[in-house]
Amino acid sequence: MKVLVIGASRGIGFELVRQYLADGAQVSATARDDAGLDRLRDAGATALRLDVADATSASALAWQIDGEVFDVVLLSAGTFGPRSDGLDAPSVGDFDRVMHTNVLGAMRVLPQLAGALAPGARLAVLSSRMGSMGQRAAASGWLYRASKAALNSVLKDASIVLAGKAVCVALHPGWVRTDMGGAGADLDVADSAAGIRRTLAALQPADNGGFLNFDGTPIAW
Ligand SMILES: NC(=O)c1ccc[n+]([C@@H]2O[C@H](COP(=O)([O-])OP(=O)(O)OC[C@H]3O[C@@H](n4cnc5c(N)ncnc54)[C@H](OP(=O)(O)O)[C@@H]3O)[C@@H](O)[C@H]2O)c1
Repeated sequence: MKVLVIGASRGIGFELVRQYLADGAQVSATARDDAGLDRLRDAGATALRLDVADATSASALAWQIDGEVFDVVLLSAGTFGPRSDGLDAPSVGDFDRVMHTNVLGAMRVLPQLAGALAPGARLAVLSSRMGSMGQRAAASGWLYRASKAALNSVLKDASIVLAGKAVCVALHPGWVRTDMGGAGADLDVADSAAGIRRTLAALQPADNGGFLNFDGTPIAW
């Protein structure tokens, strides 16, 4: 099995790399600085440099994976941005950083993957339940919420274009104890990654274009 994890220097992305390697998969994974690349190499992955928020860096993914085909692709790169509680207008800088990382990054990366998918591949973007409008009951972190709702739209379009080549899903990883999720989160990163891997392995063609929790249960858009 060949796996590509984008945004894997730490957090859920790194844990996915660790678990797939432990299972005997060949893993390529991306980081945007030397420390992250070293960490991936030390773990046994093929390390690729990629900053999804940088146009030049992002456009170089295609040649870095030229000739490769992946059975599983995960886009984990993401940022939360300002911790807001209500309707606080974000600065242009914060807006651009969050939207460029979480949305534009996916729109740059996904088109480059079309030629790198093994038959029956599974492709997931790490979205968030916070992006769900159907389940929306709070407005905290509204910039992040907007970015994940937009990412869901991007995933849906990718699922239409890539139908028949890959089963594409948006996944909520749970509320996970990482730098982003914080120490008080519900889930250990190992349990989140294990659930994501199980859910991806169980995907059927009819799941294409879905929005799923890490345990495989559907989430309202
Ligand atoms: N943790 C949670 O509770 C939770 C809940 C719902 C959804 N999610 C989503 O799950 C994904 C992973 O979250 P996490 O908890 O693992 O977050 P994390 O611990 O903050 O790690 C974020 C990862 O994204 C990478 N990244 C950020 N900006 C990037 C860029 N411009 N280009 C490439 N990589 C970039 C980081 O790389 P650097 O080390 O270089 O910064 C790091 O590897 C995110 O998309 C997040 O929104 C997380």
